[in-house]
Amino acid sequence: MRIKTLGQFIIEKQADFPYSKGELSRLLRDMGIAAKIVHREVNKAGLADILGMTGETNIQGEQVKKLDIFANEQFIAALQAGGECCAIASEENEEIIPVVNEVSKNAKYVVAMDPLDGSSNIDVNVSVGTIFSVYRRISLAGAGTNEDFLQRGTEQVAAGYIIYGSSTMLVYTTGKGVNGFTLDPSIGEFCLSHPNMKIQKLGKTYSINEGYYVHFPDGVKKFIKYCQEEDVKSHRPYSSRYIGSAVADIHRNLITGGIFIYPITSQNPQGKLRLIYECNPLSFIIEQAGGKATDGFKRILDLEPKSIHQRTPFFIGSPDMVDIVRDFMAKYSAVNV
Ligand code: AHG
Ligand code: MN
Ligand code: MN
Repeated sequence: MRIKTLGQFIIEKQADFPYSKGELSRLLRDMGIAAKIVHREVNKAGLADILGMTGETNIQGEQVKKLDIFANEQFIAALQAGGECCAIASEENEEIIPVVNEVSKNAKYVVAMDPLDGSSNIDVNVSVGTIFSVYRRISLAGAGTNEDFLQRGTEQVAAGYIIYGSSTMLVYTTGKGVNGFTLDPSIGEFCLSHPNMKIQKLGKTYSINEGYYVHFPDGVKKFIKYCQEEDVKSHRPYSSRYIGSAVADIHRNLITGGIFIYPITSQNPQGKLRLIYECNPLSFIIEQAGGKATDGFKRILDLEPKSIHQRTPFFIGSPDMVDIVRDFMAKYSAVNV
């Protein structure tokens, strides 16, 4: 079978885009370019210290940067050079980054991103990721503004993630299903490997940091106990799997079925994950694959963002599992939240 690269696929599909076809294609291409550079760096993460020796500089005399800062810089640079994006919101930057230069003066899009998700896993050789979300600007001209980012998740025109795992994959949607591409490092191209991805209606895996059990809302506690009970008909007990990189946990559940939960805890009374650049893009992708995503009660994509770094509780995955935990939340936790 002939391989199809990400670039070829995007061009073939651009007729589906509602507007500004070429621009969105180029923007996705720019994200793919930065992803390859980050892939290269992630794969020599252990070497960085050796090359750096003192921890200050590597053999080229460049500063050895923490990988999340490096990833942030790469995605920002690719978007600035690409010219299709008029502002960037990043987990790593308190304020949005306006993009104004010669190439970006007609840019129609803004990009929100988590450049490196699961950063605590970098030093231990466990999968990390990148998450991104694309909106059409609301502001009229010049650099994009905060209001361009404070749109509901339903307004996203594209969203994707990159997982730097045993292989590197880029998975994205433009609202017409979900497609996954695996990086072939020998040719330096993302190749279509997972066309039209769909999540199972009812999986057999639940992913939550159970160490915080004592701090969870009662609805979540009841759901965990439900997952652990024996019931032949629903194939319980379910397996527990928690990587600690949301991208990797949700990617696994997308492929094999399951639910990922990061609820409110006493340490994180609003939840931990960020609405605009973690939960919205992941929800868009999972919904497009036939799954669901809520804050325990309401659909994530309908939430109205009030600030760039806003957090939300997050329940995402196989639709029947998200419904079951929603019923537990309604019954046991409605007053607590
Ligand atoms: P980030 O590395 O971008 O800060 O995100 C880490 C997030 C998410 O990826 C993961 O699911 C969660 O934090 C893990 O948190 P706990 O260690 O509290 O379980
Ligand atoms: Mn993250
Ligand atoms: Mn991050």
